[in-house]
Amino acid sequence: MKKIAINTGGGDAQGLNAVIRAATLSAINRGWEVYGIRRAYQGLLEEGGIMPLTQDTVRGITHVGGTILGTTNRGNPFAMPVTLPDGTTKTVDRSADVITAFEEHGFDALIAIGGDGSLTIARDLAKQGLPVVGVPKTIDNDIEGTTLTFGFLTAVDIATDAIDRLHSTAQAHERVMVVEVMGRHAGWIALFAGVAGTADVILIPEIPYRVDKVCQKVMEREERGRRFAIIVVAEGAYPVGGEPSFTDPEAQRLGGVGEVLARQIGGATGKETRALALRHLQRGGSPNSYDRLIALRFGAAAVRCVEQGEFGCMIALDPPDVASIPLEEAVARQKLVPIDGDVVATARDLGVSFGD
Ligand code: F6P
Repeated sequence: MKKIAINTGGGDAQGLNAVIRAATLSAINRGWEVYGIRRAYQGLLEEGGIMPLTQDTVRGITHVGGTILGTTNRGNPFAMPVTLPDGTTKTVDRSADVITAFEEHGFDALIAIGGDGSLTIARDLAKQGLPVVGVPKTIDNDIEGTTLTFGFLTAVDIATDAIDRLHSTAQAHERVMVVEVMGRHAGWIALFAGVAGTADVILIPEIPYRVDKVCQKVMEREERGRRFAIIVVAEGAYPVGGEPSFTDPEAQRLGGVGEVLARQIGGATGKETRALALRHLQRGGSPNSYDRLIALRFGAAAVRCVEQGEFGCMIALDPPDVASIPLEEAVARQKLVPIDGDVVATARDLGVSFGD
C-alpha cells in the first residue's frame, strides 16, 4: 500500500489530464491512495491544496484540455514570489517547507508532470531526497531524451489547420501571410506544421534567417505566377546577427517576430503582407489521439517506476517503447531541431526556404 501525489507545473499542454487519469487508475488498481497537489507545489503550502484523486475525480478527463489540478509557472519552491508589507515582491527558497509538507502528508512518491522548468525543479528536489518520477509535457517538444512530449502533435495539428485555412485567403487576395507559432527557442512546431501545411518559407531559431532571402523566395514565386506566399515563423526565430523578439523582454516572453517580418517583407517586396500569431490557441482544447495515447502510457509507466522504487528519473518515449532516463540527463540541455536531420532535408528537397 502506497500513498502517492501528482502535480502539474509550468504552461499547460494537451494530455495533462490523460496522464493524471492513467497514473491515478494504475495506482488505485494496485491498492494505493492517490492525491493531487494543486498549482504545482503551491498546494503543499496552502490550506485545501491537496485533493484526493479517485476513479470518480478522473472519470471522463482523457480528452479534456488543461489540468484538473491547475498549474502555474511561478511556483518554483526554490524561488517563490512573496509580497512584502510594502507591496514589493521578493523570492524566497521554500524547498525545505515543500519537502516537510510532503512528508507530513505521508506521501511515498511524487509524479511531477512538467516541462524543462518543472523537471529541473523535480531534479533539484530529488537531490534533496524527494522520491520523484518526472513526466515530460510541453507543446514545444524540446525535452532531451524523449522522442516526443505529449501536447506537441496536437499543437502541430492546430498550426497546420491554421496554415491550411490561410492558404485560400492568401491565394484569393494575392497576399503574403506570416504565421507565428510557439515553441520557445526550438523550431519543432514551426518545422512540422510548416512542412505538413506546405509553407513556402519556414523560419526556426536553429537556422538564423536573412530577410533578403525570404523576400527572394516570395519574388521567385511571384515570377512563376504564384502571387501569394505562406511563411511560418517560430516565435524564437531571429535574423543573422540579430536577437529574438519579445512581447515582454523582462519576463523573456517571446513573440512579435511575425509582425516585424511582415513589415519588412511588405516594405521590400511591395506585396501586401499580413501577420497572425497563433499564441495560446496552440495549447487549448482536446489532445489528439496520439497525444492521448502517449500521455496514458506515460502515466502508467510513471506508476510502474514508483512500484519498482525507481526515483530521480523521467519517463521518455523511445519507440516502440516507453523508457525511463535520469532526470539529470533530461534537463542537461534543450532538444533542438537537428538542422542536418531528415525533416529539414525533406523541406529543402521540396523547395522550402529557411531564409538562409
Ligand atoms: O512552453 C510552452 C509555451 O507555450 C511556449 O511555446 C511559449 O513561449 C510559452 O509557453 C508561453 O508561456 P505563457 O503561457 O506563460 O505566456
